[in-house]
Amino acid sequence: MHELPAWPDPKLVAHRGAGKLAPENTLAALRVGHAHGYRMAEFDVKLSADGVAFLLHDATLDRTTNGRGRADALTWRELSQLDAGGWHSPAFAGETLPTLAAVARWSRANGVAVNVEIKPSPGRERETGAAVALDAQALWAGADAMPLLSSFSEEALVAARDAVPGLPRALLVDQIVEDWRDRVARLGCIAVDLDHELLTRARVDEFHAAGLRVATWTVNEPARVVELLDWGVDTVITDAVDVINAR
Ligand code: G3P
Ligand code: MG
Repeated sequence: MHELPAWPDPKLVAHRGAGKLAPENTLAALRVGHAHGYRMAEFDVKLSADGVAFLLHDATLDRTTNGRGRADALTWRELSQLDAGGWHSPAFAGETLPTLAAVARWSRANGVAVNVEIKPSPGRERETGAAVALDAQALWAGADAMPLLSSFSEEALVAARDAVPGLPRALLVDQIVEDWRDRVARLGCIAVDLDHELLTRARVDEFHAAGLRVATWTVNEPARVVELLDWGVDTVITDAVDVINAR
C-alpha cells in the first residue's frame, strides 16, 4: 500500500457551487453552499474568446444564461453583460457569470477550498488546461490550500501539468478503462474522480492501493454518502447541500 498524497480536509463538496438551489457556477451559488456549511466547492471553468477564464458548465450559453450560441465565441466584455441567474428563478435575475479571478478572491476570503473542473470549449483543450493552471497558481499564490484541478479532458490535464507541474490534479472518469493506471501516471494525477455508480468497495481499495485518492460525483442520497464514506472514499460531490450535512 502506497502512502496517499495530501488531500483537502472537507469530505463533502458542493457541486457547481450549491447544486440546484441557486444558479450553478455563480457567486450566488457559492454563497448558498457556504451558508449551508460547505467548506469546499466544485465548479466548471472555460475560456472566453479573448482568453479570460470564467465559470460555465455547457459549451453553449443557452441553458444557463440569456445569451445564445458557443460560449467561447464572445469576449469577456460581452459575456460579463449576460444574465446568468434569471433562468433559475426571479430572485437570482441579474446574477452575472463570474471570472475565475472573482471566485478566487471570494473563496480565499471565505476559507472555501476549490475543485476547479477544467471544462474546455471543444477544440480549446490544451489552451484551456494551460491557462487555467497558470491562473490558479497566480490567484491562489500563498493560500493555505491550493486548488485541485480536475478534468475529463486528458489533453487539458497534460497542458495543466506542463504549465504548472506542482498543482494537484484529478482525472475525471465516467467509465472504467483497463489502462487507468497508465493514464493517471502519464498525467501525473493524484486522484481519480468518478461517477459514483462505478464505485465498489473493492475498486476504492484498488485505487488507494495504487496511491490514488478517490473522489466521486454526484451523490444526492444521504444513505449513499454514508456508504461511500464507509468504503473510504476521500471526497463526495453533491447537489444536495440542504439535505446532506457538510463535513
Ligand atoms: O467534477 C465532477 C462533476 O462536476 C462532473 O460532471 O457534468 O457536473 O461537470 P459535470
Ligand atoms: Mg463539473
